[in-house]
Amino acid sequence: MTYRREEHVMIPESDLEGMSVDTLAVRAGQIRTGQLEHSDAIFPTSSFVYGSAAQAAARFGGDEPGNIYSRFTNPTVQAFEARIAAMEGGERAVATASGMAAILSTCMALLKSGDHVVCSRGVFGTTNVLFQKYMARFGVETTFASLTDMAEWQAAVRPETRMLFLETPSNPLGEVADLSALSALARQSDALLVVDNCFCTPILQRPLDFGADIVIHSATKYLDGQGRCVGGVVVGPNALMEEVYGFLRSAGPTMSPFNAWVFLKGLETLPIRMRAHCENALELAKWLEQQPKVEEVFYSGLPGHPQHEMASKQQKGFGGVLSFRVRGGREQAWKLIDATRMISITANLGDVKTTITHPATTTHGRLSDEDKARAGITENLVRLSVGIEDIDDLKCDLERGLNAL
Ligand SMILES: Cc1ncc(COP(=O)(O)O)c(C=O)c1O
Repeated sequence: MTYRREEHVMIPESDLEGMSVDTLAVRAGQIRTGQLEHSDAIFPTSSFVYGSAAQAAARFGGDEPGNIYSRFTNPTVQAFEARIAAMEGGERAVATASGMAAILSTCMALLKSGDHVVCSRGVFGTTNVLFQKYMARFGVETTFASLTDMAEWQAAVRPETRMLFLETPSNPLGEVADLSALSALARQSDALLVVDNCFCTPILQRPLDFGADIVIHSATKYLDGQGRCVGGVVVGPNALMEEVYGFLRSAGPTMSPFNAWVFLKGLETLPIRMRAHCENALELAKWLEQQPKVEEVFYSGLPGHPQHEMASKQQKGFGGVLSFRVRGGREQAWKLIDATRMISITANLGDVKTTITHPATTTHGRLSDEDKARAGITENLVRLSVGIEDIDDLKCDLERGLNAL
């Protein structure tokens, strides 16, 4: 019997140093096997075999590098990790089973009982629950601060603060944080700046370039972009990622090889998809602003948005997510949503298909009324994740919704 041992697996020597993030999205991290396949290979295996008992012992003892078991490492997952690390400009990435697993793993690996977190108020509803309900049970207290108010962040920091956590732009109002200022505050406070970069992706924004320590993604969103798989990833310096990897290896919320392969395919088209999302979203935001039944539009690409300048400085584009308030309350918002015919009613975002949702009763439904009010999640707010369909068809479908009011 012949085994194809790892010496048959080769990593191309191609030098991608200095290449643009658009090129890295297509090329970085690929592992090519002895079959010389052009597309990324998929390794759907739970375990790996050894040439001898001695080799097995060396692998388990950490004396010899190599695969043991797919909860620890898997070549398809490693290819995804290498690609996204290159794109974010980080030393190493650790892939996880979901975006929430990425956030949880980062917290479990890098925080301990008694530590304190400052988190931006507008974060994804489940992230909020994770901090307030679960991390609190393990003695990690969280204070929430307005994403855009530096004085609030400064006032919230305590001697035991070890992490500043935020999303920028925020969901669903598209507020934009000042990453350089927050990075300076994190350094001063001996805390880590952790940025959920799910809405921009490294195509539009690289938080590590502005001084963030760690970047988190829900790969479920734009990185896949076609609504197929749930996954996440954490990117940062080797020393911190070794801790996150250690937690994952012990606790198990790892990414499956199949999902990693889907994300690798997704990354290849990410640069052109992000450009199309941005273009459509800007056009729709401008159009919605002119509609009499729309009270207010939130999109950082609009010159009137309070953080338009900051977004222009930090981001290469304004992203595909926007939200707007209709005149009226929940009833009007639901009516508009229900009257659309093409746009999908779903809380997922980052898909090539445009999606529409009512944040107050879906993504942010578990927040208390007080927290919703503070985060600006009103009953008349509607969120759109703008896809890449024809812009006139999108306007036509939203017009159906507006006409129903
Ligand atoms: C900004 C943001 N972060 C994290 C998550 C969680 O990701 P996942 O659903 O992959 O666990 C989401 C999900 O919608 C999100 O929007």
